[in-house]
Amino acid sequence: MTTLDNEQEQFGSNLDLIGRENIDDLEAVLSFVGHYDVEGFHRVPDNCPAEFTWDYQKGAKPQLDKLYEKAKKAQWNAQTDLDWSIEVDQEQVVMANAEANAAQMQWDDAALVGTALEKWDEKKFVEFGIQNQNWLLSQFMHGEQGALLCTAKIVETVPWIDAKYYAATQVMDEARHVEVFSKYLDEKLSGHYPMNAHLGLLLDDIVSDSRWDMTYLGMQIMVEGLALAAFGFMHQMTTEPLLKQLLRYVMSDESRHVAFGVLSLQEYYQQLGAAELRERQEFAFEAAVRMRDRFLQQEVWARMGVDPKEVAPLLEQVPDRQVFQSLLFSKIVPNCKKLGLLDAADGWLRERFTEIGVIAFEDWADTGEEYDTLQATGTDAVA
Ligand SMILES: [Fe+2]
Ligand SMILES: [Fe+2]
Repeated sequence: MTTLDNEQEQFGSNLDLIGRENIDDLEAVLSFVGHYDVEGFHRVPDNCPAEFTWDYQKGAKPQLDKLYEKAKKAQWNAQTDLDWSIEVDQEQVVMANAEANAAQMQWDDAALVGTALEKWDEKKFVEFGIQNQNWLLSQFMHGEQGALLCTAKIVETVPWIDAKYYAATQVMDEARHVEVFSKYLDEKLSGHYPMNAHLGLLLDDIVSDSRWDMTYLGMQIMVEGLALAAFGFMHQMTTEPLLKQLLRYVMSDESRHVAFGVLSLQEYYQQLGAAELRERQEFAFEAAVRMRDRFLQQEVWARMGVDPKEVAPLLEQVPDRQVFQSLLFSKIVPNCKKLGLLDAADGWLRERFTEIGVIAFEDWADTGEEYDTLQATGTDAVA
């Protein structure tokens, strides 16, 4: 038996971790499509022990205390701080965005030959752009609700008072984020989408894990790390002033949230042994694959009446799409490195991140460093 076989026996295989042997198995990825639960809600048992602490000494974790003080001053009001009188013509926005970002968004006409998209006229492409926006903002809204539930859970489970205080401010931040995306969808866009199935699987796994640090790792490091990069992209690419403003506000909170995750876990992970770290690495890898799977946007293709299997290979040919997708991991990889997760357990996670093509970001700034720079220059202030 080889070392690898031994490892596979002792730890999770791809099949155990993500439900399929081959991470690029398109059939398997596309077999999950998001839908609304018929009851109108989705219930996940969270199995967590709520922990009281009798150590009330504020500032025992000075960096967390600093974040808490900062968070108290950085509150904003979704109803009054944004200019909701701005009119949004979705069709115009799709066309203006396409023009402003032509290099990133153009399809290769030759690649469309023989597919359902070959017969699409401009109107159909604009409709696709509109559905795409509805889908993306819906995913942001659902992800924010995941963050709201996870940070409420962290308040209960994290052992330190400074972290409980800080997490309580994040609960408020996430409530505001759900509110703001929901309002934007209802008042400015043209329809909701259910949560993407892959994002849903990941959030269920994060919420149902009983260990407090797994909530942090899944939500603060992986989901919020990707969201921070995605919001940054959208902020840069959109020509719509209200959305730009909204994202600027949300991002000013999110960088603090990811920094909270890095600061809280860094010290804790130094005390864990190789087997425990390996479990964390596997969890991080599962999360990375789930988030990558959702890029295929099956729910949008289904609504456009197109078989996603037919267009998935096309997506690979859109200029800059690969670059764009991997850039979404530009926060996650340096943050995992900072936590010691890349190279623990013989570099298991380094190998996995190399396989999915995102290892190049390992030396980019981690969010803890980035947050300090923002603080020092004062550029994180939204006003
Ligand atoms: Fe958020
Ligand atoms: Fe957040």
